[in-house]
Amino acid sequence: MSKTDQLVQKLVRKHGKTRNSLMAVLQGVVQEERYLSEDAMIAVARELDLSAADVYGTASFYTFLDTIPRGKNIIRICKTITCHMKGKDEVLLALENMLKIKAGETTHDKMFTLLTVNCLGWCHKGPVMLVNDEVYTELTPQKAIEVIEEYSRK
Ligand code: FES
Repeated sequence: MSKTDQLVQKLVRKHGKTRNSLMAVLQGVVQEERYLSEDAMIAVARELDLSAADVYGTASFYTFLDTIPRGKNIIRICKTITCHMKGKDEVLLALENMLKIKAGETTHDKMFTLLTVNCLGWCHKGPVMLVNDEVYTELTPQKAIEVIEEYSRK
């Protein structure tokens, strides 16, 4: 049995073999494997007695359930209006130049994936980015670069 199958079985045991567990199980897979592979979705469908289309539909509806491989660290920059007006473009550009990728891409060494996302709920302190689960507020290009430099050293 593959590592993914084992993980899915463990998550289903933990959350229960019902349709209501679907989100929790999918999130558990993303947490562990950093994205949701085809194999993982098929395993989840099998374990929860759902159709693969059902699982896939749920996964693609929730954009934070990544279905393509990502880097070790995921940077999510808010692109919504308040952060946009407070200078998110400069922050994004600084990180694109630093990492030599565009938004939506992953660095060659698989250390970073750079994404733009909708409002993260910190509008009063924009521009805002999330790195993995950590929130960084009131960014300037310089501050954003320093944060990411820290992660490169980890
Ligand atoms: Fe950026 Fe709300 S607009 S956090």
